[in-house]
Amino acid sequence: MRLLDKVALITGGATGIGAACARRFADEGAHVIIADINEQAGRHTAEVCRGRFITTDVGHAEQCRQAVAETVACYGRLDILINAAAHLGGYHDVAAMTPEEWRTVLSVTLDGVFYCSKYAVQEMLKTGGGAIVTIASVEGMIGAAGHAAYVAGKSALFGLTRSMAIDFGKNGIRVNTISPGIIDSGRPDIERLKRDPNMMRFWRDMTVLDRMGHPDEVAAAALFLASDEASYITGQNLAVDGGWTIGHPPPPRSFT
Ligand SMILES: NC(=O)c1ccc[n+]([C@@H]2O[C@H](COP(=O)([O-])OP(=O)(O)OC[C@H]3O[C@@H](n4cnc5c(N)ncnc54)[C@H](O)[C@@H]3O)[C@@H](O)[C@H]2O)c1
Repeated sequence: MRLLDKVALITGGATGIGAACARRFADEGAHVIIADINEQAGRHTAEVCRGRFITTDVGHAEQCRQAVAETVACYGRLDILINAAAHLGGYHDVAAMTPEEWRTVLSVTLDGVFYCSKYAVQEMLKTGGGAIVTIASVEGMIGAAGHAAYVAGKSALFGLTRSMAIDFGKNGIRVNTISPGIIDSGRPDIERLKRDPNMMRFWRDMTVLDRMGHPDEVAAAALFLASDEASYITGQNLAVDGGWTIGHPPPPRSFT
């Protein structure tokens, strides 16, 4: 077991990639705590993982502080933080986006990672170390149409991650990001895309491995970065994207 008796707090752990992390971490012996706004799904996932659920809106600093405090009150420590909660927002360019939507997306996608990391680090400093893994996105690495606030938030996570890695490396705290490509997580926008053959062709053409990823494939990377197997890795971004960001797709066969 690669995480035996480790205490792992997972934001956005109710569904999708966060839930896959929760299940995988529990299988590897971790005590799992899910912090999410989705109570019904969060309680279900926590039950499957024999863990706990804490209703949390990561856009509010006090709720993040409370989630960390409850975790420590229950298990005595916090070893791993997975930041998986995010808010994509609608499909708008900046001309159409309202200031309110910009703020909502960033409050969850970026501020929430800061708040949870801040309070988690305070606990990790008391016990001599820990690991933070934030789920960023290929959209933060290379940009994307119609998602300016989400892209801005995800891009900023790389800087936040490197800064925290530098600030707390000497304290035994490692901080990394994972950038998923297109993952079949059940998110409503991805379900919609799956119903559109043209969109499916478009995404497959963008992806060297010619398919969507599975949440378990992201959870496997999160497990690696959270575990002692990644003991000399910090401040890094690991793309789990089927090759989306390594280059352009090959030209049509008629050309080669
Ligand atoms: N699915 C993809 O293709 C993809 C690609 C790149 C990055 N990601 C990232 O992976 C992570 C997980 O996404 P997913 O695809 O599994 O989608 P998802 O919707 O299943 O998971 C997001 C989770 O975050 C929770 N959440 C939303 N707002 C919250 C808030 N304010 N406070 C607490 N929890 C909140 C949701 O309830 C949900 O459980 C996100 O950070 C997302 O940006 C996903």
